[in-house]
Amino acid sequence: MMETRFKLSEEDYRYLFENASDAIWVHDMEGKLVDANKAFEKLSGYTLDEWAGMNCTQFLCDESLALNREVQRKLLNGEELEQPYEQRFVGKDGATRMMKIATSLAIVNGEVKGFQHIARDVTEESYLHENMRFYIQQAIRAQEEERKRLARDLHDDVIPFLLLLIQRLDAITSGTKPRLSSSLKSKLEGLYTQVTEALENLRRYAQDLRPGIIDDLGMVAALEWMAENLAKDYGIDAKVEVIGVERDLPDEVQLLLFRITQEALTNIRRHAEASRAWITLEFGDDKTVLTVKDNGKGFKLPQRIGDLAGIAKLGILGMYERGRLLGGTLEVKSELGKGTEVVTKVPLPG
Ligand SMILES: Nc1ncnc2c1ncn2[C@@H]1O[C@H](COP(=O)(O)OP(=O)(O)OP(=O)(O)O)[C@@H](O)[C@H]1O
Ligand SMILES: [Mg+2]
Repeated sequence: MMETRFKLSEEDYRYLFENASDAIWVHDMEGKLVDANKAFEKLSGYTLDEWAGMNCTQFLCDESLALNREVQRKLLNGEELEQPYEQRFVGKDGATRMMKIATSLAIVNGEVKGFQHIARDVTEESYLHENMRFYIQQAIRAQEEERKRLARDLHDDVIPFLLLLIQRLDAITSGTKPRLSSSLKSKLEGLYTQVTEALENLRRYAQDLRPGIIDDLGMVAALEWMAENLAKDYGIDAKVEVIGVERDLPDEVQLLLFRITQEALTNIRRHAEASRAWITLEFGDDKTVLTVKDNGKGFKLPQRIGDLAGIAKLGILGMYERGRLLGGTLEVKSELGKGTEVVTKVPLPG
């Protein structure tokens, strides 16, 4: 194979440094800027004459300062650090920009002299991301409203109508009037059975749309109801365990936790090939933790959860967004051959 590698001169490196589109800067152990490129000047708003000798902490708000210290501490101790990380940066105009930064030690003759950073401005991207998030959350709320309306229509109009129909059919077939021929009677009885089944299906549908059981009997009863259905309809042995002293959670929290459980259980019956499932609701001092776990085949999670949207899989994504709507976190852990676990943590007051 032809040798294609060659060494660049110092001058060439300098050229790359100066003209890179990412901002690059170097500072000493005290934070004093010792070198920076053109992109840094553009980002910070300071020219070479101005930034020379300035302290880097000047570009950081309090939150970023703490992160900065943590990054430097980890690098000096050789601890693992996720790179690039995100940090806010305040330029000369006072505006805050969101940066994606990679940081490393600046080493001269084997001695650590400071830190060097390469940063990309992702402010626009992060705005877009936030907007998208907001949009998804609004969509989740709108969907709940729509489900509520549909469930109410079913309960108020369709279900009573079917009930009336059933009563009438019953009255006709069980009446003592001998006018009905036996073939007509058996047809009507067939109809009676069909309408009764349709009513049962509609009731289940209405329950899924808007689980009245939460309002009537509370969160734990609603979880138990879902576990029973899983056992009864799909033969998966599902148990609910409550740890700690049960607390009354706000309505929205209950509904979101219910929806997360609903999706996790749907995934278990559709994908996991599990024989058992566990739902645990833990009331801690500072948070409520909901865990839905199975002993199924497990799966490999994509690197980024957002990738699921690209392949039209919205279940896990929806669970994440609901976790965020709760002001909490949701984590999916899965191990091939062992099973899957969805853990939602909601801080108090939840
Ligand atoms: N408990 C589980 N056990 C095994 N695989 C799972 C489990 N939960 C999710 N998966 C895998 O993760 C993928 C993504 O799940 P997700 O809920 O996001 O989408 P989906 O269930 O395929 O579709 P939907 O958008 O209807 O929910 C599934 O297709 C499945 O391969
Ligand atoms: Mg799903």
